[in-house]
Amino acid sequence: MIQEQQIILGESPTFLEIIEQTSRAASHDRAVLVIGERGTGKELIASRLHFLSPRWEQKFVQVNCAALPDTLLESELFGHEAGSFTGAAGKRVGRFEEADNGTLFLDEIATTSLAAQEKILRVTEYGTFQRVGSNKTLNTDVRIIGAANIDLPSAAERGEFRHDLLDRLALDVITLPPLRARKEDILLLAFHFGRKVAHELDWTSFPGFSKTMTDTMMEYDWPGNIRELKNVVERAVYYAEHEHGPIDHVILDPFKSPYRPNRPATVEPGVENSKKPVIEKVSVGQTDFQSSVDKYEKDLLRDALKTKKFNQKKAAEYINLSYHQFRHLLKKHNLR
Ligand SMILES: Nc1ncnc2c1ncn2[C@@H]1O[C@H](COP(=O)(O)OP(=O)(O)OP(=O)(O)O)[C@@H](O)[C@H]1O
Ligand SMILES: [Mg+2]
Repeated sequence: MIQEQQIILGESPTFLEIIEQTSRAASHDRAVLVIGERGTGKELIASRLHFLSPRWEQKFVQVNCAALPDTLLESELFGHEAGSFTGAAGKRVGRFEEADNGTLFLDEIATTSLAAQEKILRVTEYGTFQRVGSNKTLNTDVRIIGAANIDLPSAAERGEFRHDLLDRLALDVITLPPLRARKEDILLLAFHFGRKVAHELDWTSFPGFSKTMTDTMMEYDWPGNIRELKNVVERAVYYAEHEHGPIDHVILDPFKSPYRPNRPATVEPGVENSKKPVIEKVSVGQTDFQSSVDKYEKDLLRDALKTKKFNQKKAAEYINLSYHQFRHLLKKHNLR
């Protein structure tokens, strides 16, 4: 989807610096990495990089690398010859070919396999690649923009991301600040999203937010960043039903309910500052021993992750596990 019309808003010094860096990066033709927590605007910045670059009239091709399993991703990126694997009925042109002369945005690049990374490295170095199931070397001229929401140097240290590809892509790295580091922009964005919904609802004007809602928005940490803010504001405006009087209905967690099924363990009120998470009592007896232990482990992991804002290293420390033990348990319980 072309996003050229999408507005990028922000006036905090931190954000303006990013916009300046983006304009500078747009003018050179090298690879760029856009790093940031989820919902910080990586896609918007990537499309801005393309549309401000000399390649702006050419294609801007986006691939979400996390959306496809390894084998399909390779064929998506590089194409395949007919019959090269089960299900590959016809020949397929890959995204590197499609983006020739333009920009290829590899979103969630950290999720690619080491094998795919090796092939991507080859294209970035020599501009050459082969379709899956073919020995013929093809050429392409693409500018690569990669995005990730994890720390890529740490991933490289752990052997999950190739150092050589990282070096190659990191010619310019744009790290987007989380919303809590640019609080000046919260209300600006909230009004923008609020006005948009009011317009969709055919209201004659947007009544603004109540003091309580404004304070809540300013004090909240916004782990889901701008996307989360947008959703909270949209929910609040829809809930308001009419335009008479400031918007006041702020629901930060729409799933909050005493009847929420399988909800993760919660920290009991008043113990937020204690070091250890308090886990809901598991009722052994309703189920067998192993599934009770599994549930207990899962609850501990989820609780630690939630408490440490999904930073796995800190979550591991929080429950006195080594990072490797913690990752092993996440894998065991399929909690990626
Ligand atoms: N500066 C901004 N001004 C206006 N809207 C923004 C801004 N930044 C992000 N948004 C909006 O917030 C939402 C999330 O942005 P985007 O999809 O670019 O984030 P992301 O970093 O790619 O997230 P994820 O890591 O989850 O893929 C989108 O609806 C986008 O339009
Ligand atoms: Mg994204």
